[in-house]
Amino acid sequence: MQCLYERVVDYEFSESGVHPLHLNELLEGDDEIKELLESPLGYPHADGTPLLRERIAATYKNAETENVFVTNGSSEANFIAAWRLFDKGDEAVIMVPNYMQTWGLARTWDVKIKELRLRNDLGWQFDPEDLKSLVTSKTKAIQVCNPNNPTGAIMADEQRKAVIDAAKDSGAWLLSDEVYLGAEREAPRTESLWGYHDKTLITNGLSKAYGLPGLRTGWLIGSREALEGVKFHHDYLTLTPAMLSDRLARLALEPKRREKILNRTRSILQSNYPIIKDWLDRHGTMFEHVPPAAGAIIYIRYNLKINSTALAERLRKEKSVLVIPGDHFGTDGYLRIGTGPPKDYLLGGLDRIDELLREIEAEGSS
Ligand SMILES: Cc1ncc(COP(=O)(O)O)c(C=O)c1O
Repeated sequence: MQCLYERVVDYEFSESGVHPLHLNELLEGDDEIKELLESPLGYPHADGTPLLRERIAATYKNAETENVFVTNGSSEANFIAAWRLFDKGDEAVIMVPNYMQTWGLARTWDVKIKELRLRNDLGWQFDPEDLKSLVTSKTKAIQVCNPNNPTGAIMADEQRKAVIDAAKDSGAWLLSDEVYLGAEREAPRTESLWGYHDKTLITNGLSKAYGLPGLRTGWLIGSREALEGVKFHHDYLTLTPAMLSDRLARLALEPKRREKILNRTRSILQSNYPIIKDWLDRHGTMFEHVPPAAGAIIYIRYNLKINSTALAERLRKEKSVLVIPGDHFGTDGYLRIGTGPPKDYLLGGLDRIDELLREIEAEGSS
């Protein structure tokens, strides 16, 4: 949906991050502009410059520069982690709903997927008993997305412990996509799953919590041995990150600037959530949602007799609004709406959704 439609609709609500920072908001002062203009446009270090890796490592407890491998977006980090780990016939336990990239890759590579279902009735947590019943000695990897896309839920302590214990007990890899870490709306900063189990690969990047998707900067955190393995895969894919992105990412992750950027994200989330909540409340029993703890997304259950893909298609074709249907996350009956745009844009798009809802109701009563 992203590649097909995001640039052709009036209201693009398929984006799950806050509206992006501008380059002139990131750069501070003439010296930085000068340095940027003087950058040689050669290949940067294949795994990211040492300073960038050092700054990324500093955002984790117990990570060193050697534990960081810089990629082009967290999507590339997810891709090479899955590429490195999955062989035909493997079994993987994958959280659902989820950013369905690892799920899709596993399916493509004939990996047997066992879905670990997040439950609406548990505030979008999973039942630890379900995890126990899914993980066996055959499990190659357990993949989670925390904070979660599309629900915005942050894994509770009991679930965190259950995931770590299950990976340790079974000897499976733990793959944790943490691209929304730092994009908490009210909750304290999410704790990474890094540092609890040797066979762990964390993926993350600057696209969501930092509002810098255009840099295409992502990373993997893993043991030195685990990263040795992924390096070769990276050589067959994109070789290196982009030089200018590496430079700008270093600035974004400078400790003070990082906090400023994360505060900007939090304040956008805090001011936009009440707007969409008011809108949902005005619709009474039409919508239900669990307030998202993180991310510029809200996962809404609707009480209409229409399939989610059909509803999203009508919104796109008839109202030029792009939202993601629950079908794409393996849960029909829901829509994921991006809540990160500027206020007027958000309100304009919600009005268009209202127009269609009125039309659907009128169709139903005629
Ligand atoms: C959970 C999750 N992981 C990874 C990505 C990919 O992000 P990027 O490649 O821009 O870092 C996304 C994008 O929406 C996402 O939601």
